[in-house]
Amino acid sequence: MIKTKKLKFYIRTFGCQMNVYDSRLVSESLKLSGFEEVNTPEEADVILSNTCSVRQKAEERGVKFLRDYKKQGKITVMLGCVAQQHRRDQVLPGVDLAFGTRSYILLPQYIMGYLNGNAPENRILGEDFGLLELTDTPLKRRATWIQEYVNIMQGCDNFCSYCIVPFTRGREISRPSEHILKELINLQKQGVVEVTLLGQNVNSYFDGKRQFYQLLDLLDKETEFLRIRFTTSHPRDLTYKVLRVIADSTRITDWIHLPLQAGSTRILKKMRRGYTKEEYIEIANMIREVLPEATITTDIMVGFPGETDEDFEDTLDVVRKVKFDHAFTFIYSPRPGTRAAKLKDDTSNEVKGKRLRILIEEVNRIAHIQRTRMISKFYDFLVEGESRKDKSLSAGRNRGFIKGVILGNYPPGTYLIGKVIDVKGLAPIVQPVKIIDKFEIYNELTLSV
Ligand code: 5AD
Ligand code: SF4
Repeated sequence: MIKTKKLKFYIRTFGCQMNVYDSRLVSESLKLSGFEEVNTPEEADVILSNTCSVRQKAEERGVKFLRDYKKQGKITVMLGCVAQQHRRDQVLPGVDLAFGTRSYILLPQYIMGYLNGNAPENRILGEDFGLLELTDTPLKRRATWIQEYVNIMQGCDNFCSYCIVPFTRGREISRPSEHILKELINLQKQGVVEVTLLGQNVNSYFDGKRQFYQLLDLLDKETEFLRIRFTTSHPRDLTYKVLRVIADSTRITDWIHLPLQAGSTRILKKMRRGYTKEEYIEIANMIREVLPEATITTDIMVGFPGETDEDFEDTLDVVRKVKFDHAFTFIYSPRPGTRAAKLKDDTSNEVKGKRLRILIEEVNRIAHIQRTRMISKFYDFLVEGESRKDKSLSAGRNRGFIKGVILGNYPPGTYLIGKVIDVKGLAPIVQPVKIIDKFEIYNELTLSV
């Protein structure tokens, strides 16, 4: 009998965690269809690039990656937001097949057809064939690490004026909560200890039966993970009920990623964010009240069209008042097709660059103050690997998503309680006091803090 050679594929992911999750499912579905995943693009017959179009630079990176391998004669497949955006255009140079964000379900079949010389009539698939998540691929998915992402919804209905996501990911759909629970249990059985639930706006989750706080409550009660995280929370939709469930839960972590985008109410209105500066601060205060130990992180943009020095001061003011533990900072990048792209952008690149530098400095200054407050206190840390700077030390995160350096070399997955003895840069230095059985952690924490 002739043994047919398995076709080898390599997948590179750009962009957000949702793309990381989608790539995991695409890879599983290709493997279930007989393909073999390889670790380097050089070994592969088929190269897939899961692209991001949230900012122009990200878009360029994903496209260039494929072009380089097309030149080497590989079959190139584009996935993700850029593929979705170009669905009505000509096939991009350097790309053999393109699949929009909701057509992955047809991927194995199309790639196979293409390889057999039956080039599909339409080499760009942008139609909505439903979510791969709604097949049983997620339930068969093999875990690759002790921490995994799980999508709970797709798409976004918010249409913030600068954002391409509603165009590339489509309208909001929530996965059925029972399906999510089954996927989590499958991961748990394989030794996963931490999951992060993903959605563009998790607080508007509704599957016809459960709202987000009810989903959290269900997953908290029906699983045994050490930690369940979630992101992203839109400030307008984060509710007291969600915070209450976290406060009463065993495993839902009190880390809230709450994108601010801008501090000026005038700019927030132009961004169509649906809250004012004061409302944002109020929401942050509500988090601090219900979850006094919560970590609050954020996304902030500078240089939105029409942003003045005064508007930018408002952003700095919110940073100081809310005291973020971390912020991802960006320079606004106009995205064709969005409302903001039509606005006159009269701020020079020089001013935008300067604002970004000032913002980063302020964010780091505040984050450093927040970190020093951790000194002498006890936290749980999950070891994720060796410390980058010194291999005799370990690196891990606490419940609040703060990355620390742990004194001693511990294998990944070690769960420990440690005392923060110092802060270097923005990293707490952690002296382990006890390695613990993961299921005892919560009693231990209350005993030692
Ligand atoms: N330009 C710059 N940053 C953007 N983001 C979204 N769209 C843009 C854009 N056009 C940022 C937002 C969002 C994060 C994921 O990316 O801050 O929260
Ligand atoms: Fe984009 Fe706004 Fe939706 Fe976030 S909430 S994905 S910024 S449109």
